[in-house]
Amino acid sequence: MMNDTALLLPMRTGEIRIHDAEGFEGMRKAGRLVAECMDMLVPEVKPGVTTEHLDTLVREYVLDHGAQSATIGYRGYRHATCISVNHVICHGIPSPKPLKEGDIANIDITVIIDGWHGDHSRMFAAGELKRKAERLVDVTYEAMMAGIAQIRPGRRFGDIGGAISEIAHKNRMSVVEDFCGHGLGKLFHDEPNVVHSAAYNTGPELKPGMFFTVEPMLNLGRKDANILPDGWTAVTRDRQLSAQYEHSVGVTEDGVEIFTTSPKGWHQPHKVKL
Ligand code: MF3
Ligand code: CO
Ligand code: CO
Repeated sequence: MMNDTALLLPMRTGEIRIHDAEGFEGMRKAGRLVAECMDMLVPEVKPGVTTEHLDTLVREYVLDHGAQSATIGYRGYRHATCISVNHVICHGIPSPKPLKEGDIANIDITVIIDGWHGDHSRMFAAGELKRKAERLVDVTYEAMMAGIAQIRPGRRFGDIGGAISEIAHKNRMSVVEDFCGHGLGKLFHDEPNVVHSAAYNTGPELKPGMFFTVEPMLNLGRKDANILPDGWTAVTRDRQLSAQYEHSVGVTEDGVEIFTTSPKGWHQPHKVKL
């Protein structure tokens, strides 16, 4: 039997959806809200704070702003954030364990407002970063932005992964292959898979009106991942550090629009001096 949500949502068609001007308006609003929520967290992330507390701040912020968390209730997930600390690649579950000096953490939030999804993550640091960790975090941001810079009509999805892999490998880091970016809009996870390890000149052609995420995960060591027995937490097999950033973007007539840009310019929270 279909539930109410199924009746209201478009189906996954196997094709990459093309959105119109109204879609861009919807995504701007959702993207802005999730970016503002991320800005709100910047002064809150420090040694001693628990990831559970950060999750509570996000849950309240989202509800107070007339939005919903897309992750609460998603395939049985129960939190408004994924918080992935140190060797956790992604889908880290908020916990009562406090962050300690030098920890790095990806905070990933997805909101729904007026039916549109804003999916965004940034790397945060508790206190001062060690050199190796800072290099990983900075190269991961550079890789995401270089991937996004490839996007314009006529280019191909593989060009995004091509640029990301080039930067990762040049810095002797690896690109995680077990998790991808994804189409999004009224659906959280839609066609296509955005493969961050792809090669230039492969994959479908980019067309105006396509919406998707670019969310590369880079590792200091090997690319291989394991899932912990909780069924969610993905960790590096060699227990070395992993980092990720994520933007939601749309292909425009002549380039790309990033929906999740920080209004405060706090693109990399660990560089912000408050
Ligand atoms: N926000 C994640 C993504 O980028 C998905 C998290 S699903 C959850 O696609 F259930 F783990 F929260
Ligand atoms: Co995503
Ligand atoms: Co996300």
